Amino acid sequence: MKPVILTGDRPTGPLHLGHYIGSLKNRVELQETHKQYLIIADAQAMTDNFKNPQMIRENIVEVALDYLAVGIDPAKSTIFVQSMIPELFEATFYFLNLVTVARLERNPTVKTEIAQKDFERNLPVGFLTYPVSQAADILCFKADVVPVGDDQNPMIEQTNEIAQRFNHLYNTELFKKVKALGGTQGRLPGIDGKAKMSKSLGNSISLAEPFDQLKKKVQKMYTDPNHLHIEDPGQVEGNVVFTFLDAFDPNKEEVEKLKDHYRRGGLGDGTVKQRLTQVLEEMISPIRKRREEFAKDKGEVLEICRKGSEQAREVVAQTVAEMKKIMGVGSI
Ligand code: TRP
Repeated sequence: MKPVILTGDRPTGPLHLGHYIGSLKNRVELQETHKQYLIIADAQAMTDNFKNPQMIRENIVEVALDYLAVGIDPAKSTIFVQSMIPELFEATFYFLNLVTVARLERNPTVKTEIAQKDFERNLPVGFLTYPVSQAADILCFKADVVPVGDDQNPMIEQTNEIAQRFNHLYNTELFKKVKALGGTQGRLPGIDGKAKMSKSLGNSISLAEPFDQLKKKVQKMYTDPNHLHIEDPGQVEGNVVFTFLDAFDPNKEEVEKLKDHYRRGGLGDGTVKQRLTQVLEEMISPIRKRREEFAKDKGEVLEICRKGSEQAREVVAQTVAEMKKIMGVGSI
């Protein structure tokens, strides 16, 4: 049997090139060797967008379209919608007893997010506890591996703690240790040079970016602020155009040559940006085309999500039934 992968995204907007480098590209490869479940985590997205459920609802199909456009194949990967599997929340409720508030407050990812969001005294319990829900997602599929970016590593630790505690308390071996599949994931900076590409920061390039927009965005990219004249020697490190060339240009040798030239001086930003525009367009255009094709029938895309959710629900329901039997709850 193929090892099981659980991974996915919150549907808060269409996905961008950062997602592509960070995870989508991997998932297209991993679906060949793993049984891959892709969660569209709408309920988790509610934990910090509960005032705007419509936004989340509308983005479910956008994320699904992105998956299909990059080459996720519903015959190989199961795409499902979190809120369509009520048993996930049943599992979450039992897992909540196995985690302390202090432990959740120490979770580095959550800690950072809480600080960023300025909740202060108004921190919703749902937000603080979303790692428990995420652990339930992972454990209910008995996932072997979870491919994660570095910032999601604490989630895997938390998951394994919950699994161990469940096994120990209820004297079972139901849950195995989950492995984080890291290292393969890079992180793409925003076009403004900020550490992370993010739609809300306004520094992203979408997977279906129209060509004229793409051109404009590359034009605006942060380079070396001290590289004022073409003859000046320029810096490649922290120069977003080169970071992107490293990530996307298939011709590594040529990129190294360009870097040398840029460092020596005599190579203008415009020339490098032109190359990057071409490289990105070559990558994006087939994705854009496929996305447009699938978008012609959103009903069909939602049908793929519905079928996936049905399949996923069977797996989850089975695990939750086992959990309840082990704990001795759910039948009197
Ligand atoms: N936290 C992930 C994100 O924000 C989405 C997610 C929910 C997830 N449950 C998961 C990822 C389980 C991996 C495994 O994108």
